[in-house]
Order: sequence, then C-alpha cells, then structure tokens
Amino acid sequence: EKITISVIKADIGGWPGHSRVHPQLVETAEEVLAGAKEKGTIIDFYVATCGDDLQLIMTHGKGVDSPEIHGLAWKAFEEATKVARGLGLYGAGQDLLKDAFSGNIRGMGPGIAEMEITLRKSEPVVTFHMDKTEPGAFNLPVFRMFADPFNTAGLVIDPNMHMGFRFEVWDIKEHKRVILNTPEELYDLLALIGAKSRYVIKRVFPKEGHKIPKDEPVAVISTEKLYQIAGEYVGKDDPVAIVRAQSGLPALGEVLEPFAFPHLVSGWMRGSHNGPVMPVPMRMANPTRFDGPPRVVALGWQISPEGRLVGPVDLFDDPAFDEARRKAIEIADYMRRHGPFEPHRLPMEDMEYTTLPGVLERLEGRFEPVE
Ligand code: F6R
Ligand code: MG
Ligand code: MG
Repeated sequence: EKITISVIKADIGGWPGHSRVHPQLVETAEEVLAGAKEKGTIIDFYVATCGDDLQLIMTHGKGVDSPEIHGLAWKAFEEATKVARGLGLYGAGQDLLKDAFSGNIRGMGPGIAEMEITLRKSEPVVTFHMDKTEPGAFNLPVFRMFADPFNTAGLVIDPNMHMGFRFEVWDIKEHKRVILNTPEELYDLLALIGAKSRYVIKRVFPKEGHKIPKDEPVAVISTEKLYQIAGEYVGKDDPVAIVRAQSGLPALGEVLEPFAFPHLVSGWMRGSHNGPVMPVPMRMANPTRFDGPPRVVALGWQISPEGRLVGPVDLFDDPAFDEARRKAIEIADYMRRHGPFEPHRLPMEDMEYTTLPGVLERLEGRFEPVE
C-alpha cells in the first residue's frame, strides 16, 4: 500500500519585512489541516516555518498532484492570507498568484515537493526547508548525498547501494528533463547541475536491482520558479525537498553531512546576491542580516505504518553544525564587503531586481563610440 508525502509551501506574508512567519498564520493553517484530517482527506500533517515561508507537510493516500490535496493547501494559504492582511503583515498573499484554484497548485505560486511511496518496514524521512534562495541550492547537497563517495560512505561500502542512483534533471528555462545514471554519467550530471540557476535536480530514483522499486523516488525537490510563472519578480522561490534515508539509501548522517559545508547559493537580499546557506535549527530560521544569509532547516520523521508523521526532530539542532554556522557568518562578512560588486551581487541575467535598463536609457545619449 502506497502513501504520499506532500510538502507545499508559500510565503503569504512576513513579520516584519521578509524575516519570519507570524504564529497566527501557523495556527490558521493548522486549523484548516486539522479539519481535513478529521474528515479523512489527509492522514497527518505538520505546519512548519522557515523564514517568511509557511510549510505544510502532509501525508495522505491520494497520490501526487491530487486536486483535493492541492486545493486543501490553497485553502490553508488563503485563510492564512486573510489573517496576514488583518495583521498588516508584509507582502500578505505574495505567493498566491491566481485568484481562484483550478485543480493543481503548480504554476500558481506555492512550491511543491511530493512523493508517492511504498512504505518500508521502517521509513525514515527528512524534509528540508530553505529560505532566501532558489531550487538550484539543492543541487550540490543532493548530488553529494546520492553520488559523492567522499560524502556517502555507503556508495562504496554498502552492497545495497553500490550500484548508484538515477538523477532526473530539469532544464527550468526550456522546460524539459533528462535522466542520468551515476556513477557512469557522473561528469555529464555535474556538467549540467553545476549551472544551478538553469539545471536543477528534480528527483532521485534507485536503479534496477535496488530494494526500492525503480520508479519510486528516494528524493524530490520543488522546482517552481516564481518569476517565470508571474513574468515578473514576485518573491523568491525558496525551495523544499523530501529525502528518504537508511537501508540501501544514504544514512541519516549522510543525508545531513553535505550541509556541514555552507556552500554559496543565489538569493539573499532582493533575491540578487550570492551567499552561504546556513544550516539552522527551527528557532534560528529567521534571516535578518541583510535579509539573510540564506537558511536551511532539516526536519526528521519516521512514517508510521498507517502513514502518521512521527516527528519532527530538529536535525540541525546539533553543536556539530556550529562550525558550519560560524563559517557561514565568516563567508557572509567576506561576501558583504563586495557591496554591489559581482560575484556577491548576481550577474545581470540572474538578478530579481534591477535598475540597469533605466540607467542605460538615461545615459543613452552620453555613450560615445570608442576607437
Ligand atoms: C529576498 C527577499 C528580501 C526582499 C527585500 C526587499 O528573497 O525577500 O530580501 O527582496 O526585503 O523587499 P521589498 O522590495 O518588498 O521591499
Ligand atoms: Mg517574503
Ligand atoms: Mg522566503
């Protein structure tokens, strides 16, 4: 019997500015989801936050892309938006780009990661929640989890995962995808996903011969690109991911280990700067310095045989990640000192705010040919 895990998130108002979610929004979303749980629409849920993003984590039996589940999430966001408006929160309803729900929440503003899976005897899962960055921020850590033997010892020494994994990569500009096998196509995979603003890992699958059926994802990442949906800047598409662990998959510690290195991601202030992603416990997921630096929260779950969410365990609440946090602050200091210069500020085509066309227009008559 299969169950579906859905993580659907949206920024529907910040408190203050773009820094965190007001607790009343969490309560409102909880009320809506509790009603749905009572009616049997969903099996279980948890409402989390990361920065200014409200995160609905749900289990149910309705599969991915279920109109009922997406509609439920939309309703929770709508109700919470009303509260956000009442409180005068900043950017209330900012990620709800359409007025009415029409069957699927994709392309409507919120970010979605969903997987339908056959529960193993015991099912350890991690949900990751990032703020002030973009889906490509998961490329490096997910690559490391499932393909880098220097991160994941199991790839080398566990016969159950020695065959490697398959990566589904999306070209988010051209809207097409490709599946690459590791370790055979490792370099091709890296050639694509190193260009993280364009090629993003969408899912990871086991290979033939793995204990888990070949068509069941073992990791999934949200890849919605808000600015491409709306045609203009409407807020960062802060991503989420779901990763299964243990028993022929990366161990919990191999899933978390990539975040001991606070790698550079795009986002931060005005979605237009490179900065380190800082692994933090929930209580520290309130980016304020220069609206950042970007954050990642990891929540640990066991899924019960009936599909209940047993958790969350706040996985970065571990002093072993203190050094990554300290390093992230050091990198933040270093990057900040570049001010408006690249590579702190993003290259022109990746910036979400720009004055350049206006500046160029104003200066047009003053540019002269150079010999
Ligand atoms: C980044 C982010 C913030 C805002 C910044 C300016 O993802 O959300 O850094 O871009 O606070 O916001 P506005 O233009 O709303 O004043
Ligand atoms: Mg916001
Ligand atoms: Mg956000």
